[in-house]
Amino acid sequence: MSSMSSYYQRHIFFCLNQRDNGQSSCGDHQAQAGFDRCKQQVKAAGLAGPGQVRVNKAGCLDRCAGGPVAVVYPEATWYTFVDDSDIDEIVESHLKNGQVVERLVLPADVGR
Ligand code: FES
Repeated sequence: MSSMSSYYQRHIFFCLNQRDNGQSSCGDHQAQAGFDRCKQQVKAAGLAGPGQVRVNKAGCLDRCAGGPVAVVYPEATWYTFVDDSDIDEIVESHLKNGQVVERLVLPADVGR
């Protein structure tokens, strides 16, 4: 753990936006389940807390076409995911070991 770096070593934000106007949103695509799974796995792995990993909810991140989406800082790596195994891989590979999960990276041109 480095004392000179940011408060959290890695910070992941999940869009949990739910639209009720008929437009697609991450909330329609298991975003909450992904967030819950990530929280649970980070805690179970002993990664939660200062100097380690923080998992947070976010509103719309404006990349809805790729939903559900999450973004990891400080790398600013954007992910899309489908199921628990995807989340588990992000936790184990990226949040724990700093290795980007290339197969889940959101293509650069995916926007709203
Ligand atoms: S609804 Fe999730 S990025 Fe917009």
